[in-house]
Amino acid sequence: MTDFTKIDEILSSFEDKSCLIPILQRLQEEYGYLSIQVLKRIEEKTGMSGAEIFGVVTFYAQFRLKPQGKNMIKVCHGTACHVSGAEKIEESLRQELAVKGDEPTEDGLFSLEKIACLGCCALAPVIMINKKCYGKLEQKGIKRVLSEYK
Ligand code: FES
Repeated sequence: MTDFTKIDEILSSFEDKSCLIPILQRLQEEYGYLSIQVLKRIEEKTGMSGAEIFGVVTFYAQFRLKPQGKNMIKVCHGTACHVSGAEKIEESLRQELAVKGDEPTEDGLFSLEKIACLGCCALAPVIMINKKCYGKLEQKGIKRVLSEYK
């Protein structure tokens, strides 16, 4: 049985229970993602329908329904990065970390996702780990970059 104490504490810190987005953001910050249990508790405590809550969660890319690794790697696949070898960079990252799809690595250290443009196209190809950008990346530099987070 899930302990709802922390969820309830967070929910009660919001005076206006109709402010769904900040509530979801705060709960995701706490748990790393939004589990079905968390979403059901929001439904029970706010009176919003499950469909309404799920609609918001799936509409905004910022919300996650699955756990993620401690470090989020965003691989840019925008035009500049695409023509500069983003596919090969992602392939090497996946090989190095042994990750498939959007599942986190076995040790829980990394998750990987594709992104449209990180806004620093002159540095293509670019990846971002948490809030740090790595530009002009080459396949041979990937191990070194990852070692900063191990
Ligand atoms: S296309 Fe990769 S940063 Fe813009």
